[in-house]
Amino acid sequence: MQIDPFIAATAALCLVIHHLLRRFLHRSPSRLPLPPGPRGYPVLGALPLVGLQAHTGLARLAQRYGPIMYLKMGSCGCVVASDAGAARAFLKAHDAQFANRPNVISAMDVTYHRQNMVFADYGPKWKLLRKLCSLHLLGGKALADWAPVRRAEFGHMVVSMHRAAAEGRPVVLPEMLVCALANIIGQIVVSKRVFDVQGIESNHYKDMIVELLTGGGLFNIGDFVPAIAWMDLQRVQAKMRRVHVRFDAMVTKLLEEHETTKEERRGRPDFIDTIMANREGEDGETITDVNVKAIIFDLFTAGTDTSAVIVEWALAEMLKNPSILRRLQSEIDYVVGRGRMVQESDLPKLPYLHAVCKEALRLHPSTPLGLPHFSFEECDVNGYYIPGNTRLLVNIWAIGRDPAAWDDPLAFDPDRFVSGKAAKIDPQGNDFELIPFGAGRRICAGKLVGMVFVQYMLATLVHSFDWKLPEGEELDMEEKFGLALPKAVPVKALLSPRLATEAYI
Ligand code: HEM
Repeated sequence: MQIDPFIAATAALCLVIHHLLRRFLHRSPSRLPLPPGPRGYPVLGALPLVGLQAHTGLARLAQRYGPIMYLKMGSCGCVVASDAGAARAFLKAHDAQFANRPNVISAMDVTYHRQNMVFADYGPKWKLLRKLCSLHLLGGKALADWAPVRRAEFGHMVVSMHRAAAEGRPVVLPEMLVCALANIIGQIVVSKRVFDVQGIESNHYKDMIVELLTGGGLFNIGDFVPAIAWMDLQRVQAKMRRVHVRFDAMVTKLLEEHETTKEERRGRPDFIDTIMANREGEDGETITDVNVKAIIFDLFTAGTDTSAVIVEWALAEMLKNPSILRRLQSEIDYVVGRGRMVQESDLPKLPYLHAVCKEALRLHPSTPLGLPHFSFEECDVNGYYIPGNTRLLVNIWAIGRDPAAWDDPLAFDPDRFVSGKAAKIDPQGNDFELIPFGAGRRICAGKLVGMVFVQYMLATLVHSFDWKLPEGEELDMEEKFGLALPKAVPVKALLSPRLATEAYI
């Protein structure tokens, strides 16, 4: 066959132009290298290298491969940010792009198939849910409006601890904290104290939250090798389904009761009343009944254990370092005296308390890897090519312990926040060396409430009681990895009252 030389020349010219245009106008980001990372194994990729304590496993890998690391896990790409600069690059410069969440099998049932805020993709539904929560539940005004509820619940908690002290019984700290926090969330959200007293029922609830957070944090093989997801090799999905059934029963009952008590709340709406009255967003987006259940799920899970974990670690660290405990007690005694309990209005006058809380958030962030982010599109970050459909994990735990950012990073030393270079660091998402609440668009929606919970609870506990371990018991400082990072062995302590008797009534 003869080819017309003109057509051949035109075709060749087109090819050259196409090539040049691609090269100079549409420079493919893939010309940059992927971030460094381990090669891993066939099929599973780097998954086995991460280990069961993923925050420490990833931190170890980052020491070798650097603060921006790319891991192929099964068939999924995952990028991990492990220092302040890397976190800033993803959560500030490329924030919008990474503002989605990946599909996580363990979250599917419990979030009613991502109908909640925490696992919603970045879009109109998420915006509406977040706006309603900020306006009516978690923002500054709502925080002030609900102060009496916090005061009453922490008061109940102290009274039952006082009773235990009088009877010489040790208290298991996280059981007390989670019961009080669940009652606060219950009252704000559905006008109901969910537990009359701390006991078997509230402990079951706590176990359920722990199970959810442990299962939710596990690196589930099915997420990374979808072809074998149906086998549910780690039994994660089965466990989460069981917990979901229990949680759903609890939420359904709360909502049924809520409906029957509507008249009693006339003029005094709670969060669910407000959501029901504002279901329509500006762009036609609607909050469905399933969204309502899913957001209640968010608030009970994200809003209770997270703050309790920080307070527990802070107390454990102070039991190890009694001089810090005594100094904090002196500060509160000086401002409040011993004739009454701490009030929220005292908190701004307690700088050492703020330093202790920041130090606990740095060394023991309650969500060590934050929540996973996801980008559908490819991009370039700090000279690396990040392919589309990549998960982002930010190792908040490693960032808080980075020796390049913190002197003596493993020491619990609140003084670093009193004076010196870290004194001005704030944990609310602008200083990337300390981001316990994350940063950017998906930053913790409850960060203001979380900070008040932590400061108020810790101040109340330390001021109201002296703390000591039961005879012969030692403090175990092991962590239990999941979405949250509680102590593996809860703090159990004997308390002695420090305040005038009438302060406990
Ligand atoms: C000290 C306490 C707390 C800590 C350390 C904490 C930490 C976090 C972190 C790290 C995230 C993920 C941010 C990201 O995706 O980058 C998050 C998300 C979230 N937190 Fe918190 N949290 C705390 C308390 C609370 C409280 C009290 C509530 C509500 C009552 C809450 C509600 C949420 C919600 C709804 C999200 C999802 C936000 C979204 O996806 O848009 N958190 N939190």
